[in-house]
Amino acid sequence: MKWTQARRAQKMNPSVIREILKVTEKPGIISFAGGLPSPKTFPVSAFAAACEKVLREDAHAALQYAASEGYATLREMVAAGLPWKVDPAQVLITTGSQQGLDLIAKILIDEGSRVLVETPTYLGALQAFTPMEPEIVGVASTDEGVDLADLRAKAAGARFFYVLPNFQNPTGRTMTEAHRAALSEQAAQLGLPMVEDNPYGDLWFDTPPPLPLTARNPEGCVYLGSFSKVLAPGLRLGFMVAPPSLYPKLLQAKQAADLHSPGFNQRMVAEVMKDGFLDRHVPTIRALYKSQRDAMLAAMKRDMPEGVEWNTPAGGMFLWVRLPEGMNAIDLLPKAVERNVAFVPGWAFYADKADARTLRLSFVTSSVDQINFGIAALAEAIREMRKETS
Ligand SMILES: Cc1ncc(COP(=O)(O)O)c(C=O)c1O
Repeated sequence: MKWTQARRAQKMNPSVIREILKVTEKPGIISFAGGLPSPKTFPVSAFAAACEKVLREDAHAALQYAASEGYATLREMVAAGLPWKVDPAQVLITTGSQQGLDLIAKILIDEGSRVLVETPTYLGALQAFTPMEPEIVGVASTDEGVDLADLRAKAAGARFFYVLPNFQNPTGRTMTEAHRAALSEQAAQLGLPMVEDNPYGDLWFDTPPPLPLTARNPEGCVYLGSFSKVLAPGLRLGFMVAPPSLYPKLLQAKQAADLHSPGFNQRMVAEVMKDGFLDRHVPTIRALYKSQRDAMLAAMKRDMPEGVEWNTPAGGMFLWVRLPEGMNAIDLLPKAVERNVAFVPGWAFYADKADARTLRLSFVTSSVDQINFGIAALAEAIREMRKETS
């Protein structure tokens, strides 16, 4: 039997990261490559109690088909927890924020549509957008934010600009208040809608990040949030806040995709979150991740040879590193794996021309001892490669 695949299926690629992670699945390896939250942060006993309660008090509804919009109590909680006035009617519960990206791709992208992304950007968004056959264009970006002149030059006809203002994946960057204000103003002037993805915003270390872009222009933005990083990714629960002009179409796409996100999980999350649980729980995640970030920064400072550059993320899970001139992170990976340490080469995160010198390190799933060992091993691999290339 010959199956003829749709053109869009041919556009789908295995996640480069998954492929890389296979190489790194050797016993004893210290992996800075994954994008997983630390399992130590999963509130297991709170879930056990909530699970028992939902089954005892609300089992029939929890196990039945339900509304595509999501569980009303959870939608209200989401709306009330956001730092601008949100009508719960504009909240759509999704099967992870990844589904939000997929629904956006389905309703906003035609073949050839221009979609703008930061440089670099979240790989999972590129995967969600690509099957719709858009022209994905990277907007020049630095630690300070998006290059507004480049944005202006590329915005004509774009369907939307996909942005991650807080502790970005992969770079760990955060946009300043001034930059957000300027970007919002620019986007409004250009008539450019924005899709704001914010799974890491609660994971700040010293001070909360400035207000989301959506708060400044709710009509011109779709906002994506997630329970993956503050509760657990296995729940597969996230949400979107969409303007009334877009919500009904997103809802239809959601219905077609999976009817609704698991009602049982939604009730469990609502049960866990009531009475301000996140206000007590999230600070423990921040403290853990901050100590791991600090350990990684100290190890980098101690061990890295001259010419290696990295940033200081103010939250989230990732550190972004740039190798010295003439070096390439893809060639470095096997040398690092030989020394039992893994990372993700940065090229996977670029929509167009990649900076081959970049790489992403996650600091959240390794202990401080592992971070110390792993960074020393990575530094050694870099020194060896430098000898070979010089
Ligand atoms: C920037 C970004 N957006 C979306 C997601 C998807 O998250 P989830 O579907 O678990 O909510 C991730 C996951 O790592 C991410 O880093």
